[in-house]
Amino acid sequence: MCGIVAYVGQKQACPIIINGLKRLEYRGYDSAGVALYKDGVIDVTKSKGKVALLQEALEGKDTNATVGIGHTRWATHGEPSTVNAHPHYSGDKKLAIIHNGIIENYASLRQELMARGHKFESKTDTEVLIHLIEDIQANEKVDIVEAVRIALNEVVGAYAIVVLSKDNPDMLIAAKKGSPLVVGIGEQGDFYLASDATPIIDYTKNVVYLEEEEIAVASLKDGLSIKTIKNQQKTPYVQKLEMELEAIEKGGYDHFMLKEIYEQPKSIKDTMRGRIHLDKGLIALGGIRDYERALANARRIIFVACGTSWHAGLVAEYLFEELTRIPVEVEYASEFRYRNPIIYDDDIVIAISQSGETADTLAALEIAKQKGATTLGICNVVGSTISRVTDAGAYTHAGPEIGVASTKAFTAQVTVATLMALHIAHFKGSINTSQFNRYLFEFQSIPDKVERVLEKAAESKVIAEIYKDATNALFLGRGINFPVALEGALKLKEISYIHAEGYPAAEMKHGPIALIDENMPVFVIANQGPSYKKVVSNIEEVKARSGKVIAIVTEGDKDVKDMADYSFEVPECDELFTPLLTVVPLQLISYHVAVMRGCNVDQPRNLAKSVTVE
Ligand code: F6R
Repeated sequence: MCGIVAYVGQKQACPIIINGLKRLEYRGYDSAGVALYKDGVIDVTKSKGKVALLQEALEGKDTNATVGIGHTRWATHGEPSTVNAHPHYSGDKKLAIIHNGIIENYASLRQELMARGHKFESKTDTEVLIHLIEDIQANEKVDIVEAVRIALNEVVGAYAIVVLSKDNPDMLIAAKKGSPLVVGIGEQGDFYLASDATPIIDYTKNVVYLEEEEIAVASLKDGLSIKTIKNQQKTPYVQKLEMELEAIEKGGYDHFMLKEIYEQPKSIKDTMRGRIHLDKGLIALGGIRDYERALANARRIIFVACGTSWHAGLVAEYLFEELTRIPVEVEYASEFRYRNPIIYDDDIVIAISQSGETADTLAALEIAKQKGATTLGICNVVGSTISRVTDAGAYTHAGPEIGVASTKAFTAQVTVATLMALHIAHFKGSINTSQFNRYLFEFQSIPDKVERVLEKAAESKVIAEIYKDATNALFLGRGINFPVALEGALKLKEISYIHAEGYPAAEMKHGPIALIDENMPVFVIANQGPSYKKVVSNIEEVKARSGKVIAIVTEGDKDVKDMADYSFEVPECDELFTPLLTVVPLQLISYHVAVMRGCNVDQPRNLAKSVTVE
């Protein structure tokens, strides 16, 4: 949510910033801007809309500068507009700032600053912050780094910021709380700062991830120094980036989302890699090794997450309850955090998050910690805040997910949840060794089965062509495939803007059935499993009301195929593993519908990846 890129060094800053912003555009894309320092002046260029429009606005301008900061925005305070776009200036135009996050007490600070004569151009919280820094520097006669530090002690909220100072153009000042910030260290002592590593990877693999409430000064003269906002000196911990460039490029696909759908056999395999040991009959999950007993003896397991990750939590509920017989609750992180939840110290709270930065999920974890629960994380982004604040966890190894609509992260989350549930069930003896080995053997075949689903991708395009003009759609599933119905509906609505709802198939009779008519596509997950016959009855109910049924069926199923208007076959597998297969045709259909409707699949309107505000 909002992307930050900055550079100070010997190279041309502008192309580095613009290319970096394009890589970060998935974090927000309603406006963009850049500030470049040259010949004693900070020059700011901004535009509403995407980075390409900012590039146009820069055409013909002298952008010959070796220090600069840039930003792509997802609006929180103030509508998307050029004036509200970042960077923002201080009143004297000696300072410019880019900011990701939210300053909660900005209104009162704004009042105070206005009383002291400050005038604001925008409605943003960010402009208030840079005026506050300016005010402190002027009144307390301190240097810019100290002014930033003092200011950050006065603000409430979350931030990743970079400040450019006209009087100190050979350095950038950055700070982080609640929103991520990475500093890349170039070979010539130059510095690349960004919200995540994707804009940096072209230039250097040496990075420092800032910790909470840390301020970094990236200086061409003095190198990188870090201290906390409480003035404690820190030693920068330089890590090697493991990400490869291909992972963040489209690699010949039209969209990142399509690439990521097709990557799933590999990303599921990568998530299993080194964890399933068929020969020894065990699952190794190093990250949670010290918490196996706590998990096995847990009074309850509570999953907290948002959006697609919440759907993965619902799948995990079925897996854990079925295999481990431990009671499970799945909570929207945004609700959990505000309802004074009852948590026991023998509860385990597991956060699921692709980005590892989602503000509500993070806050839910804090509450769980305060109440004494053990906290675990299932995150995709290595080194992300959630992965660091939890007691332990298991990463998904899906690789960078750039498409705003989550696909491969979901299947990787379900893969980790399955591994955890199987492992704990075996550990506590709720399944015996022969059951465990049978599950392991079958689970290993899932990536190949996903590959088989993808081989039939052309059929999803045919279905999309027929239903692309629908205005509403219903997704039905039962048992472990009910969350898949929710996920199918979310995918369709978020990228194609068709209103869609997911329901447990039997619940349809209690309301949604009233919507069914000859125009209503009803996607039904009707694989052969424990609820197959019941789902068949639900399909009959839809057909009796002239609804159009698109069924996801098990290979070779003739009965549902005959009843449905269209069907999509997935390979047979144990019911517990079916979400990893049944979700894929729904991702594909949503993708094709959105493309056919001319929607921006990778960057749907109003959305952003990594929601770092509540
Ligand atoms: C939908 C989607 C979102 C995210 C949600 C949580 O396709 O991507 O619903 O799942 O914003 O994000 P993470 O997993 O990063 O916490």
